[in-house]
Amino acid sequence: MNYRHAFHAGNHGDVLKHVVLVASCDALARKPAPVFALDTHAGRGAYALDDAPAMRTGESGGGFAKLAAARPDDPLLCRYLELVRACRAELGAEAYPGSPWLLARALREQDRIACCELQAEEAAALKARFRDDPRVAVHQRDGYAAIRALLPPTVDGVRFGRGLVLVDPPYEAQLAEFDAALRALREGLQRWPQAGFALWYPVKQRRVLAPFLRSARHLPARSALLVELAVRAEDSPLRMNGSGMLLLNPPWQLDGTLAPALAGLHAALAEPGAPPPRLEWLKEPL
Ligand SMILES: C[S@@+](CC[C@H](N)C(=O)[O-])C[C@H]1O[C@@H](n2cnc3c(N)ncnc32)[C@H](O)[C@@H]1O
Repeated sequence: MNYRHAFHAGNHGDVLKHVVLVASCDALARKPAPVFALDTHAGRGAYALDDAPAMRTGESGGGFAKLAAARPDDPLLCRYLELVRACRAELGAEAYPGSPWLLARALREQDRIACCELQAEEAAALKARFRDDPRVAVHQRDGYAAIRALLPPTVDGVRFGRGLVLVDPPYEAQLAEFDAALRALREGLQRWPQAGFALWYPVKQRRVLAPFLRSARHLPARSALLVELAVRAEDSPLRMNGSGMLLLNPPWQLDGTLAPALAGLHAALAEPGAPPPRLEWLKEPL
């Protein structure tokens, strides 16, 4: 595996994913019952945008930095930017939070978080980061296999009814990764049907996504919402022109929170000619 998220931290794909993640956590945290979150492909937890990998690609310039410079007024985008500021206050002026950091910050004392990361160095950094946070368990293991092993979640004899599974693979295996992710989502839904599941995916050439979206409609979820942000008009396999999230069983009224945020992301990040963002129910909630 060659993928290192440090090269891509804070890019437009990360921004979309992290905005949706924060909205999902905030919605879950509105009820007092404890929440369990599983981050199947967690990375190292936080990144430094002035480190060599991030500087080499400069990807955050078309993502987080561009959004921050646009000073959006949408409440969800403000909340996301506020969390990045909190991460910087803790870890340094150029820090950028990964999904584990955001989960740990957005969730509460009574909640539990399991993070899986296959790459040894990344997993070690993640373990070190959460050494003193008893809510967070870090596993160096395959995140897809963890869906089988850890769900439905029971921690210290407590069975969790509510929760969220974030699936954020590197897509090095390209189309095979979509199949692996769909298989894992199906298994996760069967094991823990009441949870929400969120799969991030890159958008390069649109027609390549058609079989994935067809299969997504047939997953055994109560509801399925698609959120997509394209930042370029281009429809080419050569680079990431946008990204999306497939949300299964999303929290009630999440679409209402996401709609204006998505419009704000499009206004701040999309180049002229990019298609409008997509917020579409593949399966409407009953
Ligand atoms: C896109 S990055 C994750 C970024 C992270 N979710 C975030 O938002 O900050 C994908 C990560 O998955 C790890 N990875 C790759 N294959 C994996 C697998 N089968 N199980 C767990 N982690 C894996 C990679 O080492 C990489 O750190």
